[in-house]
Amino acid sequence: MKILKTVSEVREFVKDKKTNGKTIGLVPTMGYLHEGHASLIEKSASQNDITIVSIFVNPTQFGPTEDLDKYPRDLEHDTKVAEKAGADAIFHPTPSEMYPNGYSTYINVENLTAGLCGKSRPTHFRGVTTVVGKLFNITQADRAYFGQKDAQQLAVIKRMVYDLNFNIEIVPCPIVREESGLAKSSRNVYLSDEEKREALVLSRSLKEAERLFNDGERNADILKKRITDIIEGSPIANIDYVEIVDFETIQPISEIKGEALVALAVKFGNTRLIDNTILRG
Ligand code: PAJ
Repeated sequence: MKILKTVSEVREFVKDKKTNGKTIGLVPTMGYLHEGHASLIEKSASQNDITIVSIFVNPTQFGPTEDLDKYPRDLEHDTKVAEKAGADAIFHPTPSEMYPNGYSTYINVENLTAGLCGKSRPTHFRGVTTVVGKLFNITQADRAYFGQKDAQQLAVIKRMVYDLNFNIEIVPCPIVREESGLAKSSRNVYLSDEEKREALVLSRSLKEAERLFNDGERNADILKKRITDIIEGSPIANIDYVEIVDFETIQPISEIKGEALVALAVKFGNTRLIDNTILRG
């Protein structure tokens, strides 16, 4: 497997493959790879001739008081996980390779980024769409793989691709969870044993919402109240938001009809966890 460090190395790597009609799948990540990331890589490897995994802790998507410096990094481990899952190359650029001196250009998706995580992280999605747009241009990928774990991010990227006419197919992938129900995340390493145990209220509350929905409940306030009550059953859970929105527009809804995203963000200690489920009305 190749480790590519620069934009020109990636261009060189994909050039003859593109001319030979080979398809390229891209899996953008910030590294510290787990089974969630591996499932995206496996899917890409099954659908494309070549799979490139990008590993880049993207500074522009972190707020000034967030965990950019302490975000976990382990390239050796990531290389093994990526290779085992079927990757052909890793793109691991430096921050200055992606953002050279004088960098001035950003992609901003409006409306969809105002609510949910955008409220407490106002510059986050602008950083995500900028780096993802750059990765699409650098790799010339035919398909890119994103987890439903970050459901708002997925909706925002789909909107960007549509609005800016990127010639790429976005492939959504289901959430991979621990056996306990906790959604896998690179940030789970921050959790103490107690926080990890208490964090199970998240998946449990979403399961309960699914159950109520399957029994016919369509009122968003009733579902949100049930979720909030379960989460508040944990003495150390600190809710940032519990929301039900249209999955495409990320605007709040009161009655579930089409594809509804039930999304939440909750802090346990200093660690903010997100989780969600999709209800199809
Ligand atoms: P990161 O958090 O590393 O996630 C990379 C990809 O893996 C995202 O598409 C995310 O949704 C997916 N993923 C993470 N945990 C998952 C899980 N438990 N199940 C399924 N998929 C999961 O998301 C980012 O990085 C960044 O914002 C990025 C898109 C790379 C831009 O910097």
